[in-house]
Amino acid sequence: MTKTEMIKVDKLSKSFGQLQVLKDCSLTVRQGEVVVICGPSGSGKSTFVKCINGIEEFQDGQVTIDGVSLGFRGREAAKMRARIGMVFQHFELYPHLTVLENICLAPIHVLKRTRDEAEARARKLLNRVGLADKESVYPAQLSGGQQQRIAIVRALAMDPVAMLFDEPTSALDPEMIGEVLAVMLELAREGMTMIVVTHEMGFAKAAADRMVFMDKGSIIEIGETKRFFEAPNSERARLFLSRILAH
Ligand SMILES: Nc1ncnc2c1ncn2[C@@H]1O[C@H](COP(=O)(O)OP(=O)(O)OP(=O)(O)O)[C@@H](O)[C@H]1O
Ligand SMILES: [Mg+2]
Repeated sequence: MTKTEMIKVDKLSKSFGQLQVLKDCSLTVRQGEVVVICGPSGSGKSTFVKCINGIEEFQDGQVTIDGVSLGFRGREAAKMRARIGMVFQHFELYPHLTVLENICLAPIHVLKRTRDEAEARARKLLNRVGLADKESVYPAQLSGGQQQRIAIVRALAMDPVAMLFDEPTSALDPEMIGEVLAVMLELAREGMTMIVVTHEMGFAKAAADRMVFMDKGSIIEIGETKRFFEAPNSERARLFLSRILAH
């Protein structure tokens, strides 16, 4: 059976004023596929994933999610955005809400679930990431790694068709990186469609089906993970890898 195309980005270009930050970027991610995006700082990785879930507008090209073209305005656009989970570098949990309230907010208000339904689902997810005992605490009472796991649960509570991660571990203390990557790896193995921007090349090797290398706003190469690490096609990717793997 051929897997369906879950995310299709076609010739996407974006500028901030005079500055073009994405040039003709195309990428198709199949259902259940995990794609890791890497590349130097400023190459456009964050902007690219933000365009995919509609946080950033773009001037040219098209983004299609699960067969539906992504527009920016109106109820349809908001509905599509709600179907893609996004986890950022900074956890962005609501500080004045408990863990459980953070997780249940969008399912209740956007998906119109009852509080009971939303809480039952939240508890199941909390259990999965090993934080069942934290439902009543506030974000400030959690470690960075715990907050990031809650942010992942909050996104999963919306039953997303895909998850986007933008450097989810780069603001964490080293000892907390592993626990967040473990949750992401499990998610990948369960078949979640994922696009992950990360410098964690160990995670990439373990979880990614394909690697994307970006530089200066362009997708320079897309390759099967093992092949990409062993023999990148482009000189720029080779240089980037030699620098990052040397650390
Ligand atoms: N809101 C904005 N306004 C103007 N320029 C922006 C804006 N956001 C990003 N840029 C510029 O777009 C380019 C790409 O930035 P982006 O954050 O997507 O890169 P990145 O690959 O995610 O970098 P990093 O690895 O440092 O996170 C950079 O030149 C950046 O300065
Ligand atoms: Mg970035």
